Amino acid sequence: MKSNLPRSKFAVLVFATLTALVGLAQAQEPNWTNAAYQDAAWEGRGCTNDARGQWFRDAKFGAFIHFGLYSELGGYWQGKGPYDPSEQIMGLGQREQVIPWEQYQKEVGGAFNPTNFNAKEWVSLVKKAGQKYIIVTTKHHDGFAMFHTATTRFNVVDSTPFARDVIKELADECQRQGIVFCPYYSLGDWSAADVMDRKFASYQDYMRTQLQELFQNYGPIKMIWLDNYWYVKDQWQNDLAHAKELYAFIHSISPNTLIDDRVGGGAGSTDGDYTTPENQLEGARQSRYFEVVMSDTVDDNWGWVKNATNYRKPGDLICNLIDCASKGGNFVLNVGPTASGEFPKEHVAILEVIGKWTSINGEAIYGTTPAPECEVEAGGPFVCYSTKNARNVFLHVTNWPKEDGAGVVRIARIGLVGVEMVDGALGKVEYGSAVEDGKTVLKIKKPAQIDPYATVLRLTFRE
Ligand code: GLC
Repeated sequence: MKSNLPRSKFAVLVFATLTALVGLAQAQEPNWTNAAYQDAAWEGRGCTNDARGQWFRDAKFGAFIHFGLYSELGGYWQGKGPYDPSEQIMGLGQREQVIPWEQYQKEVGGAFNPTNFNAKEWVSLVKKAGQKYIIVTTKHHDGFAMFHTATTRFNVVDSTPFARDVIKELADECQRQGIVFCPYYSLGDWSAADVMDRKFASYQDYMRTQLQELFQNYGPIKMIWLDNYWYVKDQWQNDLAHAKELYAFIHSISPNTLIDDRVGGGAGSTDGDYTTPENQLEGARQSRYFEVVMSDTVDDNWGWVKNATNYRKPGDLICNLIDCASKGGNFVLNVGPTASGEFPKEHVAILEVIGKWTSINGEAIYGTTPAPECEVEAGGPFVCYSTKNARNVFLHVTNWPKEDGAGVVRIARIGLVGVEMVDGALGKVEYGSAVEDGKTVLKIKKPAQIDPYATVLRLTFRE
C-alpha cells in the first residue's frame, strides 16, 4: 500500500480490500495473521489455494530470460537498427518483415555460437539476486527451438555451430540449485509453414509434440508461460474453446503445472492461473495471482540490445518488487543475454544491488501476504508499503518525511509489542504508538541511518 496515491483512490482501494477481507472472515473479528484466515483471503482473491499455487505465491521474485537466434544480432541487421523489440527482429510482428526466412535460418543460425554460455553461472546469478524461478524462452515467435526437438531441425542442436541443448543445461542446473524452471513457449511460430498457411490442425499436432517433449525431457515443470496467441489470431484470438483444450491438454500431461493467461483471451484475460501484465504495476491483476514482467531497459525490448544505455535503476526495481509483494503478486525481471551467451554486465550490476537488499530483507518479501490492515496516512512524502507473515507485519519505507516529521500508519490491530529494523546494522528506530478507535496508530521518526532503497520495519504484536 502506498501513501502517495491520490487520497480518494487510496481510500477506495483500502476500503474495497478491507471490505472483501472482512466479508471473508464472516463477521468475526479478523485475526489478520491467522493461517486459516489468510487462506480464505487468497481464495477470495480468485487464487488457486492449493499445493500448485503455493510455491508461486511464496516465490515473489523471478527471472525472465529471452535467449535465442535473435540474441546473435542484438537488435541490428545489416547495419540498421536497433529494431524494436529486438527478440522479434526477424519478423517484427509478421514473418519476413526484416529478415527473409531462408537468410535468418542460414545466416543467423549458422553464426549462433554463444560459447560463454554457462548455465551454472546464470542460475547462480539469479539465485544470488533472490530470484526464485526462471522463465526462459524455449521457442520464441521465430520458431527456433532452444531445445533439442525431434519435430524440426530448426533447433539449437541441429542447426547451429553451438550444438548444445541450452534448455537442458539450464533445466538441470535449476534443479541442482533449487530454482524453479519454467519454459516460455510461443504458440505462434514463423518457422512453421502450417501456421503461416493457416493450417492450424497440423500445426496443433506439431505444437503439442513440442510441448510433450518439454514436459517429458525437461521437467518437472511447475509453471509454463505460453505467449503469442495474437500471431495466429485468425484462428485463436478470443477462441476460448481452443484455450480450454490447450489447458486441458497440458494438465493431462502435467496436472500440477500453472499456466498463464495468454492463450485465448490474451494477457489480462481471466484464462489460466495467473495474469501477466508487462512493464506496468497498476491494473486489475490484484484480484487474482499476478506476475508483473519487466524488461531491464526502459523500453519494450526483451532480447539483448547491443550497447543499450537505458537500463533501469536497481532502486526502482526493488520498489517494484515491494509493490508487487504488497499486492500479493510476483515481480519478474527480464534479461536478454548477449550473443556470446552472457548476462550483460549492466544487468549483473543490477542483480548485485537487488541481491544485497533481498539477502537482508527477504523475510519481509518471500512467503508474505498483503497487509491491508495497514493504512498509511496519505499526502506527505512518507511512502510505505506493507506485507506480513504469520508472526510479523512489515513496513517497507521507500520515502521518509522530513527530519522533523513522522510517518503515520494506522493498523487495524492492537497489542503492538515492538518495532525494529529488519536490517539490524541500521540501528534502532524511534516511534510512538497509541490506540485510537481500536487501531494502533504508529508514528515513525526517520531513523538516523536508512537503507538507500527501502528501509524495512518489523512490527511484532501480542497474539
Ligand atoms: C511482449 C513481446 C514478446 C515478449 C513478451 C514478454 O509480448 O511482444 O516478444 O516475449 O512481451 O512478456
